[in-house]
Amino acid sequence: MKLRVEKVVAGGLGLGRREDGCTVLVPGVLPGELVRVKVRRSHRSYQEASLVELLEPSPQRRLPPCPWYERCGGCDLQHANYPSQLELKQQILRELLQRHGLDAQVEPVLAPPLASEQEFNYRQRIRLQVAEGRLGFFQAGSHRFTEVEQCLLARPAINQVWRQLPASSSWRRLADQCQALEFSLDPQSGQVVLLLHHRRRPRPAEREAAWQLCRELAQLKGIAFLPVGHQAGPFIDRQSGARGRDGSEQLRLHFLFPAAIAGRSLELTVEPTAFCQVNEGQNRRLLARLLELLQPAGDEVLADLHCGMGNFSLPLALGCGRVYGVDIQAAAIRGAIRNAQANGIENCRFNRAGAQEGLAALYAAGVNPDILLLDPPRGGCLELVRAVGDPRPSRIIMISCDPATMVRDLAVLGQKGYRVAGMQLIDMFPQTHHLETITLLRHSG
Ligand SMILES: C[S@@+](CC[C@H](N)C(=O)[O-])C[C@H]1O[C@@H](n2cnc3c(N)ncnc32)[C@H](O)[C@@H]1O
Repeated sequence: MKLRVEKVVAGGLGLGRREDGCTVLVPGVLPGELVRVKVRRSHRSYQEASLVELLEPSPQRRLPPCPWYERCGGCDLQHANYPSQLELKQQILRELLQRHGLDAQVEPVLAPPLASEQEFNYRQRIRLQVAEGRLGFFQAGSHRFTEVEQCLLARPAINQVWRQLPASSSWRRLADQCQALEFSLDPQSGQVVLLLHHRRRPRPAEREAAWQLCRELAQLKGIAFLPVGHQAGPFIDRQSGARGRDGSEQLRLHFLFPAAIAGRSLELTVEPTAFCQVNEGQNRRLLARLLELLQPAGDEVLADLHCGMGNFSLPLALGCGRVYGVDIQAAAIRGAIRNAQANGIENCRFNRAGAQEGLAALYAAGVNPDILLLDPPRGGCLELVRAVGDPRPSRIIMISCDPATMVRDLAVLGQKGYRVAGMQLIDMFPQTHHLETITLLRHSG
């Protein structure tokens, strides 16, 4: 069937219509293109199809530079040149806003997308699947494994280690019980930490193989085991030779915020099992944008309800009266507390809790934050925004990695009297449809 692609929608799929008006969704196409497609699946109101032939390609199309592009499920916009990727994402955002009736309010304050300085090689952390000792990714929307030898999105040091693994007998011994493998680059040392998602607690021979692997590969900072259903550990630190439970201390990743961003340089560290932003350059620019949008007054109280290791709360604390940080992950809160101490920041308190419980605990303790910072995972924070109570925080900053859940949550805040005062797409994930935004809301009362 021939199809004219009208637009690209959330999820990176092209949308066209059959002659009878039925919607057809196709990956790997661009707006305006005339394509021949094959229908793979029919649903009540739409069909899923795959691309068979490009009849009229878009001028924005390019040859995807990655040899695994067609098979690996990671990137889905590599066939578009980078400026047009940004336009597509902005258009997707606009359309979602329109669907929730937020477009008229947001359009005057919607800034142009903030491009990533690095189009490729930006990922400082990457997770691979391991299948019978081979490394790769699952294909898009499936559990079909594709072996891959490197990733154009990963930082070069990660690819270097990755390329050397298959030849190592120590790795092959470990790979047997490995479900997944995460590479994290420590920006300070330029070395890589491996996080092994292990099927069970490692046996002595596997610990020994990990230690051996650390000695074989000079670019390794260390190896951490994350056995399914058990606490993380042991942590094997190459430099000190430590191989214990407390090795997470040595294996931390070090991030630097230069003084130009928050007025003082800050060094933050994170354990390899805790969350950290994957695009370091864009994280700095996101922080700069956050400070610029918020401009906290020196005495305001801020609650960061998905604080991680203090990535935003600590720089913000330099300009606020008091900051309360909450995160559900123990490793993240350990990191935030340690980072506050290490940087001599005393006007912060961090607690491990769910965001809703954390906010309720603040209200119960008589703390009424002036500013809320929400940076939830992809599912968004519907229950949390529903729980925002009186007295209302005067401002809310929402950082989101899923525009669909974000607009849903913004609509709830709209019903509570919040108006969007600024929004910008921060391109954290070039080559993929993933879309990060920062939004400032002010209470109209
Ligand atoms: C997108 S990350 C952002 C972390 C941090 N703001 C940063 O930039 O590094 C989301 C964080 O929310 C935390 N999280 C997930 N579900 C949560 C919940 N229900 N309550 C509080 N924190 C949660 C995760 O542990 C993670 O640290």
